[in-house]
Amino acid sequence: MAQEVRGVIAPGKNEPVRVETIVVPDPGPGEAVVRVQACGVCHTDLHYKQGGINDEFPFLLGHEAAGVVESVGEGVTDVAPGDFVILNWRAVCGKCRACERGRPWYCFDTHNARQKMTLTDGTELSPALGIGAFAEKTLVAAGQCTKVDPSVSPAVAGLLGCGVMAGIGAAINTGSVGRGDSVAVIGCGGVGDAAIAGAYLAGAAKVIAVDIDDRKLETARTMGATHTVNSKETDPVEAIRELTGGFGADVVIEAVGRPETYKQAFYARDLAGTVVLVGVPTPEMKLELPLLDVFGRGGALKSSWYGDCLPSRDFPMLIDLHLQGRLPLDKFVTETIQLDEVEKAFERMHRGDVLRSVVVL
Ligand code: APR
Ligand code: ZN
Ligand code: ZN
Repeated sequence: MAQEVRGVIAPGKNEPVRVETIVVPDPGPGEAVVRVQACGVCHTDLHYKQGGINDEFPFLLGHEAAGVVESVGEGVTDVAPGDFVILNWRAVCGKCRACERGRPWYCFDTHNARQKMTLTDGTELSPALGIGAFAEKTLVAAGQCTKVDPSVSPAVAGLLGCGVMAGIGAAINTGSVGRGDSVAVIGCGGVGDAAIAGAYLAGAAKVIAVDIDDRKLETARTMGATHTVNSKETDPVEAIRELTGGFGADVVIEAVGRPETYKQAFYARDLAGTVVLVGVPTPEMKLELPLLDVFGRGGALKSSWYGDCLPSRDFPMLIDLHLQGRLPLDKFVTETIQLDEVEKAFERMHRGDVLRSVVVL
């Protein structure tokens, strides 16, 4: 039997979001219905509302979520009703070239639930990032659910569904930060702070946080930054070189997504260092560099997609590390809110007042 629950809808471009009754169908083959317990508010939800992702309104927002599996469809064996799970953007096929080569984050054949959730008049909803979890219940592909230790708080667990995983993964997966490395992180929002926590976890000896906002640098210290640089006042490339014996950092993580910070990341690395790009630029942005500098520097220039994470490997591991007190995921939860407070949370996020507002249900 399809069920009616409350969910946060973005009805049209730049219109305020609102709570509406939505219809969640029973799970079909390969699908699961999840009772959502927590879902973080992310910039991407705001971009959906602004029409910046696509114009398939109305959207059911929310995608950084954790909850309990309520029911599963035919053929689902990896999760069962009662399991506590974190949701991820897409189920992977497991069979394509990318999956077979152990890089399922580049899977060619990812999918979400095949059925649609609707409004009560039958209007189909587009779930944000194939999840739609600012809702009491949501329908997803079973492959989007990863079981983790249920003793963690749902508000903390949901964070791994998006930005925090992107940041930690940029450090530990894409950047392969190792014990004793020097790491610089440019941009200390939620993603950059998570990269700092990831670098600290991996045993980096120096973690240099760069931002233009002193408030952000203060928080970065609580995540594990050993040095901070305000790049409004000081040339960050010079500062990072100075802090690393004149060489540059072993790993530089860019978490802003702008040409000037891409360029800083490029020049702030050690000649054999790695640059990890996790900040997402806009389509019109361009970067110009002397080719001789591109040629003359070894190392690697990598972009990081969803932290190059394997949900089945990384989500349970990071939750375990958090429960052991080795990864301060709780520091990312600035406040917990109700479903009808998402619009206000967007404003606070826009002002840079919060790392994460998390809807708890
Ligand atoms: N130099 C350094 N830091 C900057 C600069 C700059 N020129 N411009 C902005 N920042 C800082 C901001 O002060 C803020 O602390 O970058 C940070 C960006 O943080 P958020 O806006 O909170 O964004 P976040 O959620 O962390 O995402 C960062 O990663 O995954 C991508 O799409 C995401 O491109 C975005 C980036
Ligand atoms: Zn695949
Ligand atoms: Zn997100």
